[in-house]
This record gives sequence, C-alpha cells and structure tokens, in this order.
Amino acid sequence: MKTLWVEASPKQEHSLSSALTQAFLDAAPAAAVGDVERFSVWTDEMLVFGREAAFAKFAPLYGERRTPEQKQIWSDVLAEIERVRSFDRLVVSSPMWNWHVPHALKAWIDVIVQPIASFTLNERGEHVGTLGEGKPLHLILTRSSAYDGDRADLQDFQRPYLEYVFTMLGYNVSTLVFEPTTRWTAEERAQMRDAALERARLAGADL
Ligand SMILES: Cc1cc2nc3c(=O)[nH]c(=O)nc-3n(C[C@H](O)[C@H](O)[C@H](O)COP(=O)(O)O)c2cc1C
Repeated sequence: MKTLWVEASPKQEHSLSSALTQAFLDAAPAAAVGDVERFSVWTDEMLVFGREAAFAKFAPLYGERRTPEQKQIWSDVLAEIERVRSFDRLVVSSPMWNWHVPHALKAWIDVIVQPIASFTLNERGEHVGTLGEGKPLHLILTRSSAYDGDRADLQDFQRPYLEYVFTMLGYNVSTLVFEPTTRWTAEERAQMRDAALERARLAGADL
C-alpha cells in the first residue's frame, strides 16, 4: 500500500493545506495509507513541460518523428505518469491562488495528463481515464474567502477544475474544503486552525 501526497502550497510548515493533510494522513489507519510519499510540486526537479514537450505531444498525431531531445522529454513524461500509477491512493493538497490552483500544480498536471498514457477516447469520442482505475484521490483545499455561491464576484475554478481533471483521469475523487481561512485576529486564526485540524483528523480516521 502506497500513498502519494501531492503538495501544492510552497509555504511548507506555514501552510494550512499542508498541516491539514498531515493531520488527515496521521489520523488515517496505517493499512489505508501505507507508505506515504510527500511530493512538493515546487521542487526544482519537477519536469518542465515546455516547447519541445508540446511538439513531442502532438508529433505522433501529425505523423511527425520526434527529435532525440523530444524523445528524451517524452520518456521523462511517461516515467512520471508510471510513477503516479504505482500509488494506490493520492492526496492532493492545494490553496486557491487567484481563483484557481497555484501554477506549479497546474504545471505538474500538464505533465501527467497525456492521451494514451493517462487517458483515452471511447467510441463516442469522450475522454476516459486510464490512470486512476477507480483508486481514491482526496482533495484537501483551502481558500481565504467563502465560495458558497452567495457572491457573483467570487468564482471558484479551484475545486471544479481539480475534481474534473482527476475524475477524468479515472480517480474516485472526494473533497474537503476549508473556507474562509482568513481571520483578522491571532486568536480567531488559532481557533479556525484548531477546528480545521479536527475536521481533517476525523476525515482521515474515517478512511
Ligand atoms: C498568490 C495567492 C493568491 C491567492 N488567491 C486567492 C483567491 O483567489 N481566493 C481566495 O479565497 N484566497 C486566495 N488566496 C489565499 C489562500 O488561498 C489562503 O490563504 C489559503 O488558506 C492558503 O493555504 P496554504 O497556507 O496552504 O498555502 C491567495 C493566496 C496567495 C498566496
């Protein structure tokens, strides 16, 4: 049993979404999570999906040969997808950044979402995931404001995007949202954090 924790906040020990995920995992039964690998999408080793990768992605569709550089990039992309496939459970923790996810998380998603390697099309031309195989994936999300539909100027592209993309890849997605996370006094902040940690622990214990 192996769990991959994909961590999208760069704030490390100051991150609320990371603290909640640690509490969630610590409270989970050992058999449900097994060995946990913590993977920050902010690591310098992250594969960058740029110009040559974009050409490599479409080369076979256009009947073009990949250059040696593109072949290498493509083999690195496939290796990352196979690394993710080797885990039984995924946990993705993320703050909201400008109504969406931090760019480093989107950059990693751009690596792992690939036709044939992680999704395919059915006979009706619809996307069907081949990576998740129904495995559980937990989203642990934080944001300063409340996105409860009460205010037209607060649009949530974080939760629907992440739920859409990981469901599309074939994962069985469940989501914990912590909002609003902003409090003006230190005491209120501490209270909010304690209550959130307790909620995360209860959810973890329930696995
Ligand atoms: C660059 C940046 C952009 C942000 N954009 C939003 C936003 O659009 N909406 C929102 O509600 N909160 C926004 N926030 C606040 C964070 O989502 C919030 O503080 C969250 O609890 C931080 O989680 P973390 O401590 O795990 O990083 C933003 C924070 C940063 C640093």
